[in-house]
Amino acid sequence: MRRIGMLTSGGDCQALNATMRGVAKSLYNMFDDVEIIGFEDGYKGLMYADYQIMKSSDFSGILTQGGTILGTSRQPFKLMRTPDENGLDKVEAMKHTYKKLKLSCLVVLGGNGSQKTANMLSEEGLNVVSLPKTIDNDLWGTDMTFGFQSAVDVATNAIDCIHTTAASHGRVFIVEVMGHKVGWLTLYAGLAGGADIILLPEIPYDINIVCDALTKRSKAGKRFSILAVAEGAISREDAKMSKKELKEKKKSGVVYPSVAYEIGAKIQEVIGSEVRVTVPGHMQRGGEPCSYDRVLATRLGAAAARLIAQEQYGYMVAVKNNDITQVPLSEVAGRLKTVDPECSMIKEAKMVGISFGDE
Ligand code: F6P
Repeated sequence: MRRIGMLTSGGDCQALNATMRGVAKSLYNMFDDVEIIGFEDGYKGLMYADYQIMKSSDFSGILTQGGTILGTSRQPFKLMRTPDENGLDKVEAMKHTYKKLKLSCLVVLGGNGSQKTANMLSEEGLNVVSLPKTIDNDLWGTDMTFGFQSAVDVATNAIDCIHTTAASHGRVFIVEVMGHKVGWLTLYAGLAGGADIILLPEIPYDINIVCDALTKRSKAGKRFSILAVAEGAISREDAKMSKKELKEKKKSGVVYPSVAYEIGAKIQEVIGSEVRVTVPGHMQRGGEPCSYDRVLATRLGAAAARLIAQEQYGYMVAVKNNDITQVPLSEVAGRLKTVDPECSMIKEAKMVGISFGDE
């Protein structure tokens, strides 16, 4: 009997179910003697032995269903070595559950923090295979993560909707797109939605340059402007500060609900434009996966099952040049795939007149 543990960890995204289905269907087709144990709410389920024995029917009809049938939770990697409120050693508890259930392998669907924990468990001797999940597309070692394209569609749709109302009123609109550390989602949605200004964490902005771009547009007769701003967009002054200095500054100044409101207030102050802010927020992680993600989820799921069949552990399945491959977890853990300000996509965006607030 092969017993495979499976969990979804961290923030959810649209193609988690589709990906689990890909793994499960492939496993059931390859082996007659496979049992899948689904851990509830991510690593928490592994720590506290909260699990269900899955039936093959659990994985049917979920290709198009958003969310995760297993539930998820955030279990920060930096706290993994800190005992819980009852003094439980979380790492030992996870190893204990794995051994008690006599698992052959643990399948982890997760983003950055989850991959770090997956790598740690692999180093602790567990057989682990992971899959790249996140709407941020910021995982090192893969060109694409599942969830990203679906989130791009939602964020693009938000910008599209703003376009019609912005045109009617002649205002400045800011759409805040998810992504605290990395701007892929904002960059793609901004381009797809025809944003005039795109602000990313990787390219600190100068508010005067942003305002100049807005003024230039209104002088050219454009009635409105749309900014796509990442949650982690940062000004040049703030980018120069240490984390501590930034915290102090935030404590002493006006507290804004989020970065888009802060940028909106600055624009109003510098050029007096009427600004409106839209924050689609968690809508970007919701709804059904787009067709691209369904295909990717199925391919990655099958590839993970193949690794399990070959008993190749300690890898994350990945996409490279449209081929499915695998990367050692030790290479993935702790590394972010950020937007290179000099990459061709940024250059092309600038060629069509998009401002990134930097020049
Ligand atoms: O990592 C995915 C993500 O959606 C980020 O883009 C976003 O900043 C964050 O999660 C939000 O996290 P939470 O759901 O915990 O508020």
